[in-house]
Amino acid sequence: MNVSTINRQFILQSRPKGFIAPGDLKLVETPVPELQDGQVLAQVKYLSIDPTMRIWMAMDSYLPAVAIGEVMRGFGFAEIVESRHPEYKKGDHVTGLTGLQEYVVMSPNNGRPLFQKVPKIPFVSDTVFLGTLGVNGLTAFFGMEIAQPKKGETLVVSAAAGATGSIVGQIGKIHGCRVVGIAGTDEKCNWLTKDLGFDAAINYKHPDWKAKLAAAVPHGVDINFENVGGEVMNTVLGLMNLHGRVVLCGLISGYTKEDPGLASFGTLLVKRLRVEGFIVLDYASRFMEAGTQLGQWKMFGKIKDRETIVKGLEKAPDAINMLFTGANTGKLIVKI
Ligand SMILES: NC(=O)c1ccc[n+]([C@@H]2O[C@H](COP(=O)([O-])OP(=O)(O)OC[C@H]3O[C@@H](n4cnc5c(N)ncnc54)[C@H](OP(=O)(O)O)[C@@H]3O)[C@@H](O)[C@H]2O)c1
Repeated sequence: MNVSTINRQFILQSRPKGFIAPGDLKLVETPVPELQDGQVLAQVKYLSIDPTMRIWMAMDSYLPAVAIGEVMRGFGFAEIVESRHPEYKKGDHVTGLTGLQEYVVMSPNNGRPLFQKVPKIPFVSDTVFLGTLGVNGLTAFFGMEIAQPKKGETLVVSAAAGATGSIVGQIGKIHGCRVVGIAGTDEKCNWLTKDLGFDAAINYKHPDWKAKLAAAVPHGVDINFENVGGEVMNTVLGLMNLHGRVVLCGLISGYTKEDPGLASFGTLLVKRLRVEGFIVLDYASRFMEAGTQLGQWKMFGKIKDRETIVKGLEKAPDAINMLFTGANTGKLIVKI
């Protein structure tokens, strides 16, 4: 493999308002640095495109905002092309916070954690380590642990045809729940019910979706796995059973808005709901355990997945916007 002397990288030039606009992220060329002892140079092959990137561009949250002029933060899959570290060798595959760039220098000395090595598995795509066996699978796994699903309960998951939601619903089926997904196109809804085994899927863009959702949960909702927030969340809350559980995973409908709108606290109170938010990074010490379980489910066909792949680093800003228009089904990835 030829290692370029030039690294193309996206730096944050301005904080977005609404969707990411041209110029918020600027593509620049910098020299690939010389390696020091203990450092590793990796070539980034795939970028994981995640809604949280829009938050990182705008404000401090569970991680500090990306500074103006800094390389845009992002998860990626990379191959080691040069190593001066004893635990990593040329050709090894790794995942971690590579940033939106072609090459990343990983060093134990500069505060950046060294990356997670991932195996090469015959007939398994490398990109699975960004989706089902990456952040999204882990998020679904630990979120469903918080949900404590029981056989016969009804689970409603929003952004159901996305990377996280599609796995959440399938874990719900493994636990014997009635699973209802909410998604933005009929094609996505068909995928959920015909291929993934959801009991029902509701297109929230149809005018009568609220009535259809109510009809799809005749015994009420015991678990709301919330990825969207806003009107979608409030509609599900209204259908919940007393003492139901709300797993607050994401609120994507608010990420591009100044005023994201709040959940209906009155409903939380009247229905005595238990709401728990979580960030998957809190569970880092258990990623291996969860990855093993997810890998087994995938191997035995209990979890199926889809990917939407966009080609070219220069497309990364447009790809992030695709998450907010629903242009992806399953895991959204940029192939460099
Ligand atoms: N807590 C954590 O640690 C953690 C970790 C990972 C992800 N998350 C959260 O999980 C959620 C899903 O993330 P993901 O990476 O799996 O992305 P994703 O679901 O693959 O993609 C986002 C999807 O959200 C839907 N969406 C976008 N805007 C919407 C709106 N205004 N109303 C309704 N649906 C909308 C779109 O599908 P439609 O066509 O259906 O609209 C889109 O495809 C996000 O909220 C994310 O922040 C949380």
